[in-house]
Amino acid sequence: MNERNSKLEQVKEEIRMRLDIVTVVERYVALKRAGTSYKGLCPFHKEKSPSFHVNPDRSIFHCFGCGKGGDVFAFLMEIEGVSFMEALKQAGREVGVAVESAQNRNQTYSGPTLNRDVAYAANGHAMNYFYEEMKKSTEAIEYFRSRGLTGETVREFRLGFAPDSWDGLINYLNVQRISPQTAALAGLAVTSSGGSRPYDRFRKRVIYPILDMAGRPVAFGGRTMDPEGQPKYLNSPETVLYRKNRIFYGLHQARTEIREKGSVIIVEGYMDMLMLYQAGIQNAIATCGTAMTVEHGHLLRRITGLVYLVFDGDNAGYQAAERAVQNLFPLEIDLRVVILPLGEDPDSIINSFGPERFNELLSGAVTGLEFYISRLSADGESETPQGKSRIVTSLATLLGGVQNQVLVAHFGRELAARFGVEEVLFRRMISQKNDSNRAGFESDQGKRERDLESLLNSEEGSLLHLLLTKPDQLFQWKEKISIELFSNSLFRNLYSLIVSKDVDHTSLIDEMDDPTMRDLFSLMLIRESLESSESIGHKVLKLEKNIIDRKIEQISRQLSMATRAEDKMRLLSEQSHLLKAQKGRRSNT
Ligand code: GTP
Ligand code: MN
Repeated sequence: MNERNSKLEQVKEEIRMRLDIVTVVERYVALKRAGTSYKGLCPFHKEKSPSFHVNPDRSIFHCFGCGKGGDVFAFLMEIEGVSFMEALKQAGREVGVAVESAQNRNQTYSGPTLNRDVAYAANGHAMNYFYEEMKKSTEAIEYFRSRGLTGETVREFRLGFAPDSWDGLINYLNVQRISPQTAALAGLAVTSSGGSRPYDRFRKRVIYPILDMAGRPVAFGGRTMDPEGQPKYLNSPETVLYRKNRIFYGLHQARTEIREKGSVIIVEGYMDMLMLYQAGIQNAIATCGTAMTVEHGHLLRRITGLVYLVFDGDNAGYQAAERAVQNLFPLEIDLRVVILPLGEDPDSIINSFGPERFNELLSGAVTGLEFYISRLSADGESETPQGKSRIVTSLATLLGGVQNQVLVAHFGRELAARFGVEEVLFRRMISQKNDSNRAGFESDQGKRERDLESLLNSEEGSLLHLLLTKPDQLFQWKEKISIELFSNSLFRNLYSLIVSKDVDHTSLIDEMDDPTMRDLFSLMLIRESLESSESIGHKVLKLEKNIIDRKIEQISRQLSMATRAEDKMRLLSEQSHLLKAQKGRRSNT
């Protein structure tokens, strides 16, 4: 472990010791004491009875409903949608522990997976490169000017330009000690299928850097300047830093205004966001070329209560709006929908008519529910019994996703009256949809938790569980148990992590990239093993026997295929050796 990491390690432990996980979790979840731990309704999945547990002594949480688990940093990462460093800093601020910036410039990295800090550094350097290249390119400057962007906007959003070169960025990054392989992992370069040298992903395009909430570049959108160019946009792929469903273009710049105005405007294009911002409408953000998902909704719900969805007036726009309402309405977000006149987008409206016109259109927004109803009625069949029944069924489905029963009652009453159905009947339809939604959802969640349980109860899992529960035993046994004892790579990795460090177990969670490993580990820590220390010996013997069995099997297979006499002899002697060893064990157990 290098110096920087061990320093970080210390800081992390310091924060963990000072910060009470219950205090943090309680801001998001109402917790009740239950024995030595606390429980409440899980914030990560829908449920009616609490299966989300927090153990203050171990400083860990685990949900027995959906299987999510981890330490206080994992909790913050998940609920706030931030990076590990961000979670650490946030937690550090609360307890007065400073976390220095993890950006380390003198690091060359070229492993198979990408470290987040290195990924941030690579994207940061790339943004600088594109920006400097833009300043040198009259073509790019002229393009931005022709689109109506001012120099100030270009500067503030660090709009850039990727020149027509296959290795301009790669060479620039190399100077910064970032290898072409790292550039490829960060989505900045492309490795062709032939496995040859990676080349620049973005060429001859203007560049829109996509920042996370904290203002760090995590991805780029590259637009061709050629009106006929294909594809129009070329975007970074998803990486460790970039999840399309969790990032909005412009959110970093717009976040203050969103908070102050108490509302957010969602538009479809990068250019739309920029033009609105430049025109003084600064609470607008754009999706990154995707539909509005439930994940987007969760993020929005944490920053504001009122969401305007603005879509183009073509068929695709209507469909996208409909999907967005289906995804966001159940989250109890106050939704307003604006469909623009056909052929216009926010950018063209600002350019042709100015911000007043855009604000006018906003004030004419309808609620998400009204928009949805108008779409359902659009085919003109809303008056026939069949048409009406279809509408009512769709509305019941929409309301079935809403957990807040006060709201369901309110809308249930209103809509039943409006469509002339018995309220009781309509309410029953809603609750049926609600049950079927939940049944589907919970069976997924349940399956995940059952998978974890079966891992935990397997021979290898239960041994690991037992060792974790009894640190003194782990200390005694770790010399005797080699990692080969575990055939499942998940357990093997987990075991080697546990014995490689002499630290509090909970702190290992942050080193686990595999979510299944994290969830399994938190389950092991939160639920003490009920087996006694004596069974450790038996389990180890059993697993050792399994190894021999596997070897014997392997040798039999080789024997059946061996043709040369000397090979056969060798294999037979190995086999008899192993069989003897196996017998010896049997008489021991
Ligand atoms: P301009 O044409 O420059 O005004 O861009 P725009 O931002 O208005 O784009 P448009 O309305 O055509 O598309 C909206 C968004 O969809 C864009 O901002 C992109 O995120 C995405 N998008 C559009 N075209 C493409 C494409 O060809 N490929 C990909 N991956 N995304 C695209
Ligand atoms: Mn546009």
